[in-house]
Amino acid sequence: MHHILDPGPALLTEAPIEVVEYPGEGPLTEEAIRGAVEAHGCQGVLSQVMDPLRGTVLATPGLKIVSNVAVGFDNIDLDAATRHGVMATNTPGVLTDTTADFAFALMMAAARRLPEGDRFVRAGRFGGWAIDMLLGQDVRGATLGLIGVGRIGGAVARRARAFDMRIIYTDEVPLAPEIERQLNATRVGLPTLLREADFVSLHVPLTEQTRHLIGPEQLAQMKPTAVLVNTSRGPVVNEAALADALQRKVIFAAGLDVFEREPDVHPGLLGLDNVVLAPHIASGSVRTRSEMSVLAVRNLLAGLAGERPPNLLNPEVLDRVAG
Ligand code: DGY
Repeated sequence: MHHILDPGPALLTEAPIEVVEYPGEGPLTEEAIRGAVEAHGCQGVLSQVMDPLRGTVLATPGLKIVSNVAVGFDNIDLDAATRHGVMATNTPGVLTDTTADFAFALMMAAARRLPEGDRFVRAGRFGGWAIDMLLGQDVRGATLGLIGVGRIGGAVARRARAFDMRIIYTDEVPLAPEIERQLNATRVGLPTLLREADFVSLHVPLTEQTRHLIGPEQLAQMKPTAVLVNTSRGPVVNEAALADALQRKVIFAAGLDVFEREPDVHPGLLGLDNVVLAPHIASGSVRTRSEMSVLAVRNLLAGLAGERPPNLLNPEVLDRVAG
């Protein structure tokens, strides 16, 4: 396991299990994980979003459960886990509001050029009020386009109501009419969303269908005043195309918490003022990261004890055993 937050470690210490910590922080290779799991005969793995849990790891004899300290689980090959009878779990719910707060923060920071203003002041360039200094885009009353309205997208929509925003969204599953009314939300197709939204915020999981969902063509359809926000997964956006679009001012700005090849960031983005960059911290509040740690430990311990973990992603594994 990686380092997790209190009271997660205490819960592990109290449990009748032996715990092996990965040395250091940061992403691990599939080979390194496989090596550690095999060497220690691990039955469970507590993983993070950048740990590749693919076939060679999941095929390790004796492995029962991989518990991701994240709601996203594109780092886990779920089919391989199921094939090898390994349970996989995630931490939904506890990070919804914290992540939605951050999506909103990115939206506002990018629209109102907050980090740019901060850099401007620190560089000693603030020479007094000027009517046309660092002008941004209004959030209040604007149209918000949500690509995906699951838990987090829905929470962003609730925040948007307080800003009198009109909400348009795409999702495979429409919201209930009652919720659409409450949120002032209308389901549209992607081209309409891109054409009409002042803010486009991404809330889809990374799958083969959503990889590069936003590329040159989609960016070209957006308004020149629009802001793109990504708190989902980096590869949903073609980062090179985004850097190019921002550089050419095809869109106004972007706020990114995730990147295509984390921890690397496309070099074209680094020199641009019209993009706000954050190091994958949308769920990073003290309370939420602690709750994620606890939930991941509970999932892990349940799986190791032969019980059904609360957030099991592949129940087929248990059904098969039971059947
Ligand atoms: C998640 O939970 O999927 C985030 O990316 C990490 O909090």
